[in-house]
Amino acid sequence: MIPFNRATFDGKELAYLAQAVADGHVSGNGPFTRRAEAALEVGHGTGRTLLTTSCTHALEMAALLGRFAPGDEVIVPAYTFVSTASAFLLHGATPVFVDVRPDTLNLCPDLVEAAITERTRAICIVHYGGVGATPRRFREIADRHGLLLVEDNAHGLFGVEDGGVLGTFGHLSTLSFHETKNVTCGEGGALHGNDPVLVERAEILREKGTDRSRFLRGQVDKYTWVDVGSSWVLSDLLAGVLVGQLERFEDLQARRHAIWDRYHAATAGWAAEHGVRRPLDPATAPHTAHLYHLRFASLEVRTRFIAHLREREVLAVFHYQPLHLSTVGERLGGRPGQHPVTEDAGDTLVRLPLFAGLTDVEVDRVLDAVTSFRP
Ligand SMILES: Cc1ncc(COP(=O)(O)O)c(C=O)c1O
Repeated sequence: MIPFNRATFDGKELAYLAQAVADGHVSGNGPFTRRAEAALEVGHGTGRTLLTTSCTHALEMAALLGRFAPGDEVIVPAYTFVSTASAFLLHGATPVFVDVRPDTLNLCPDLVEAAITERTRAICIVHYGGVGATPRRFREIADRHGLLLVEDNAHGLFGVEDGGVLGTFGHLSTLSFHETKNVTCGEGGALHGNDPVLVERAEILREKGTDRSRFLRGQVDKYTWVDVGSSWVLSDLLAGVLVGQLERFEDLQARRHAIWDRYHAATAGWAAEHGVRRPLDPATAPHTAHLYHLRFASLEVRTRFIAHLREREVLAVFHYQPLHLSTVGERLGGRPGQHPVTEDAGDTLVRLPLFAGLTDVEVDRVLDAVTSFRP
C-alpha cells in the first residue's frame, strides 16, 4: 500500500537527536531550539519565532494573547482543521464560521467583512495547501476594524503571496511540524510574532506563566510566576530533528513540488474529460506543495474513487468535515446550507499521497490508479 504520508529523516535529524542526548540538554530552550528558531526567523525575514509543542498549542497561545472575554467572537473558516476554532473556544472566545472561496478554499474576505459585528475581536485565516489567503487584504480589514489578525500557517511554511512571506502579515502566526507537514519533528509547532509586546508575553505563556526565558538570558536574577500559562516548550530532542529537517528544506520542497507538478500535468486531460476539479495553477496561485487535491461531483463519486485507489493499493484520504456541522459547531448554531462551499468540499475533496520520500515509481502507480478511474 502506498501510504498517504511517510516522514523521512534522511539528513542529520537522527545525528542531532543523538547529539542532544550526548550533550545532556534534552528539555526545551537549548541549543537546537535556538538554531531552529533562528532558521525560522531568517526564513520569515521579520519577527520572532518561538517553538511550541504543536500548532494547536501555538493557536492557544494566540488565543490567550488576544485576552478574549466571554461573548468575544473570532472569525475562522468553516473549512479547516478543528484546532483553528477549538483553540479560541478553549480560551474564552466564540468561533464564528465563515465560508471559503471556491477557487482556493481560503477564507472569503467579502464574507468576513459581512460577518464582522461589534463583538468581533479577531480573524484567523488559514493558507490552505500553502496558497496565500490574500493576507494583505485581511490585514487591512483587521486594522480598519481594530481586530487581531492570526495566520494559521500550518500548511504554508515559507510560502509567499502579496509580496511577503506567509506568517508575516498577521500580528501572530502559527506553524505545525506534525508528521504530515512539509517539515516535521513528529509533533511540534511554532508561534511567530511580529509585535514585540505580544512576543514577550508569549514567552511567558509558553513557560508556565513564568519569566524563565528572561532569567535564562540573564535579564532577571531569579524567575517567578508572572502570568497565566502552560507547558508549551518543545524538547531539544525534537528541536534537533527539526533543525535537521530545516537544513534540508530546499531539497524537501523541490521533491514535493516535483511530485505536485507531475500530478497536475498528468491529471489535466483526465480531469477535463470527467469534470474533476483541481487546484489552481501555480502561476496563478503559488503554493508550498503541501497537498494535492481533486474534487469530484458528489460524495458518492468520491467514495468510489477512494475505494478504486485502495484496490490498487494507494491510500488517498479526505478532510475536512465542515466545522459548523460538527457536534460542537451545531451547538454553536451551525446548520446545513450555511456555508455551501465548505459543505461541497467536505463531501467531494480527496487528497493524494504527497511526501518527499514518494518515489517516481510510486508516483506512476498513483497516477495509473487515478486516471483509470471513471467518475
Ligand atoms: C490548518 C491546520 N491548523 C492546525 C493544525 C494542527 O496542527 P498540530 O497537529 O501541530 O497541532 C493542523 C493540522 O493538521 C492544520 O491542518
